[in-house]
Amino acid sequence: MCGIVGIISSKEVTRRIINSLKKLEYRGYDSAGIATLVDGDINEVKCEGRVEVLEKDISKFNLKGDIGIGHVRWATHGKPSKINAHPHSSEQVSVVHNGIIENSTILKKFLEKKGYIFKSQTDTEVIAHLVTEYLKKNSLKDTIIKVLKKLHGSFALGIIFKDQSNLMIGAKRGSPLAVGYGPNENYIGSDSYALKSMTNKISYLDDGEFCIVKKDQIEFFDTAGTKVNKKVMNLSKDEIDYDKGDYKYFMEKEIDEQPSTIIACINEYVDKHNKQINIYNFPWKISSIESIMLIGCGTAFHSCLMAKYWMEQNTNLDVSVDIASEFRYRKVRFKKNCLYIVVSQSGETADTHAALALCKKNKMKTCAVVNVIESSIARDADLVLPIYCGQEVGVASTKAFIGQMLVLYILSIKISFDQKCISKKKYQDKIKNLLTLSNSTKKTLKLDQKILQIGKTFAEAKGSMFLGRGYSFPIALEGALKLKELAYVHAEGYPAGEMKHGPLALIEQGMPVVVLAPRDEYYKKTISNMQEVIARGAKVLLVTNKNKDEVISENIWEKIEVDQLDEELIPFLMTIPLQKLAFYSALEKGYDIDKPRNLAKSVTVE
Ligand code: AGP
Repeated sequence: MCGIVGIISSKEVTRRIINSLKKLEYRGYDSAGIATLVDGDINEVKCEGRVEVLEKDISKFNLKGDIGIGHVRWATHGKPSKINAHPHSSEQVSVVHNGIIENSTILKKFLEKKGYIFKSQTDTEVIAHLVTEYLKKNSLKDTIIKVLKKLHGSFALGIIFKDQSNLMIGAKRGSPLAVGYGPNENYIGSDSYALKSMTNKISYLDDGEFCIVKKDQIEFFDTAGTKVNKKVMNLSKDEIDYDKGDYKYFMEKEIDEQPSTIIACINEYVDKHNKQINIYNFPWKISSIESIMLIGCGTAFHSCLMAKYWMEQNTNLDVSVDIASEFRYRKVRFKKNCLYIVVSQSGETADTHAALALCKKNKMKTCAVVNVIESSIARDADLVLPIYCGQEVGVASTKAFIGQMLVLYILSIKISFDQKCISKKKYQDKIKNLLTLSNSTKKTLKLDQKILQIGKTFAEAKGSMFLGRGYSFPIALEGALKLKELAYVHAEGYPAGEMKHGPLALIEQGMPVVVLAPRDEYYKKTISNMQEVIARGAKVLLVTNKNKDEVISENIWEKIEVDQLDEELIPFLMTIPLQKLAFYSALEKGYDIDKPRNLAKSVTVE
């Protein structure tokens, strides 16, 4: 997943391209580059590392121009380096690309035979030379049509031309591309974040489409070159100036924002006065839904798994979950009375989007639980349930995970009541409990100093395990993922009852193990599993909830007690210390909290 931006204007564009690239760094940040057209010449500056490195290089070269394209990269073909950074240029054209060209090796051989010299190891470079080759015998528009037909795989492209002082091309297949409308200038970008500081009038290309962007005109075409009209969306102007405030890291801020994002989300779905849940524009009769399939990646998959437990507990539905990158290639037996719910913070994750596309192709009922409501997944689903947690910048998802779980919990209660699985009193009791969640989360956030100390132990650990049963198992998976992606410590989330079937062999003297054991129906069994790992030398951090009973165990290394809440809501509270644990472990190691190595906020390639 990479980020692209382009501006065509009658004014200087370099500074604004850099600003947009900074907003796109969540899509990838191992290298960056920019190319502008100045007096019929393409000038290109590229660097390894962040946009701030590029910024310094640009001022050194004093790069100017009123047409330009820029790119932030998350390496797919070719290691992160200056030479592999985009744009990739030939004598005639310069190209920025997000996606994967699957037939690049064959195309490269074809072009090398024609005398083209390749400088990089990227797939993208073939596009620059292929356009150059076709321009020899075709009009510019025919060149684009023919080249796009030649490319297999996915792309969002921005292309500028040496001899075109008022033209930029955008093209899209499989990776998102937006165009923006400005005053006597126009834009292309991977998403609305890249463009929001310049315009709130946006259109999105659909797969196979390309556009010819001029300062005062944008024309859209389909694969065959036939003109198409695109809807112009007016985007909300808020959240663009989201910043860290007094925090050093976005992730730290986003963890602390959770009590308020919980309130914001509940306010959108819960009528507190009448104690009822409203899910507007629900396009189906709830009674027509007999099963649910929940699909996501990474943290979003963990919220799907959490929802499975709630929906099984509160409804009569058959509930399944799947990881999007598996689902999209499975021989799925689609069922017409199944509701397919995809969950995605960014709404741009390629695997999740592909899973949604597969459901739509089979004419299934689709719902998207997203944070970015202008995203591709949101646009393509029949029903969108936003999580309303505001922009999440930290690559490691925190408040969005809580928001995803919250929306799915609210949906499960709504379905449960509408399908007459629970009484009106039980329904309203659950809503009442839900309204206390924000305060309990606030209290849980105060466990800060203790977790800071514990984080030091996990920071130096060779490996760790996170164990839980029932409602705690998805949270164990999420806690392990957080520690992996932030502190680069190998951590496994596991069903506590499964340890004796093999993974117990991993336990060695002093190994830190997190055991999630709230006082629910699984408590005693999980405590027994905890004893099994303690007996083999593990240092156990027990996460449980306040209760009058004493903990049935000694020899615990550390204990964290979250607030006493309805057991269905304890997973929200247990998540907080695990987010903080990963944060402090990474801090102890001096790692980049908001942009961990090798990762990106939105994975828009397979
Ligand atoms: C979460 O901490 C990770 N950054 C990652 O697992 C993420 O949840 C996953 O890539 C899915 O992203 P999405 O929610 O934007 O689809």
